[in-house]
Amino acid sequence: MAEIEISRSGAVLELTLNRPAKKNALTSDMYRQLAAGLEEAESDASIGAVLIKAEGGVFTAGNDIADFVRAAQGGEAQAAVAFVRKIARFSKPMVACVEGIAVGVGVTLLLHCDLIYVAPDARFSLPFVNLGLLPEAGSSLLLPRRVGMARASALLLLAESFDAGEALSAGLVNAVVANDSLVEFARGKAAALAAKPRAALLQARAFLRGDTDEVSARIEAELAAFGAALKTPEAQAALAAFLNKSK
Ligand code: COA
Repeated sequence: MAEIEISRSGAVLELTLNRPAKKNALTSDMYRQLAAGLEEAESDASIGAVLIKAEGGVFTAGNDIADFVRAAQGGEAQAAVAFVRKIARFSKPMVACVEGIAVGVGVTLLLHCDLIYVAPDARFSLPFVNLGLLPEAGSSLLLPRRVGMARASALLLLAESFDAGEALSAGLVNAVVANDSLVEFARGKAAALAAKPRAALLQARAFLRGDTDEVSARIEAELAAFGAALKTPEAQAALAAFLNKSK
């Protein structure tokens, strides 16, 4: 089965992360498929919203760490970069549902979603700085906007992990929903968005999101800094430590 499943439920295009044996860690190939899914949703007038979900009781452990190491050695990072650029400029509403762990880009991609529903067992972390890396996907701009500077500093600088209740009280997510009804609940919200008068909804969303050029400029600045950080001995050691422990 594909590691990213692209399916449809009425006017909702669903993107499902499906690499549970590796905690849905995102590879270049998966980013490419996610970007292709967004492209399909953007260009198909019958699609009114996107739902992002995951298999295996875990959202995603973030970027595949072996891919990070390869990128630092001159390997391909374009697919991840292209996905982040695309999600930041995607025009249709996005709904996400999160069970279990969401790490790194598993949290920062949520900042581009409009509605987020999480299970009681959801657990989030943004360990970039601990790994010698930097926040990405516009999160240094979007997270403080969403949860305030004090909380964003604790989450991005101290890299404190947080649970579903904290995510709700911080205003990061819309609701906590029992695991067994989470997907249906989120699907219902995505369908409700897709059924709204399209032009009004898209314009309202665009106004809510504000200046996408500002977000895109921050993404580019973060990417440049991230690329440099990835090559440092500190980051290489932190990533190698994870891979060695895993072996
Ligand atoms: N990249 C590549 N592989 C990953 C991964 C990642 N980001 N996260 C998990 N995996 C792999 C593990 O290597 C392991 O593979 P193996 O069975 O072949 O050894 C498998 O997924 C299961 O992970 P494991 O660590 O055994 O699960 P756990 O439940 O004990 O811990 C996490 C889950 C998410 C806490 C832990 O896997 C982790 O910290 N992952 C890295 C998260 C991270 O730092 N991401 C980058 C953010 S910038």
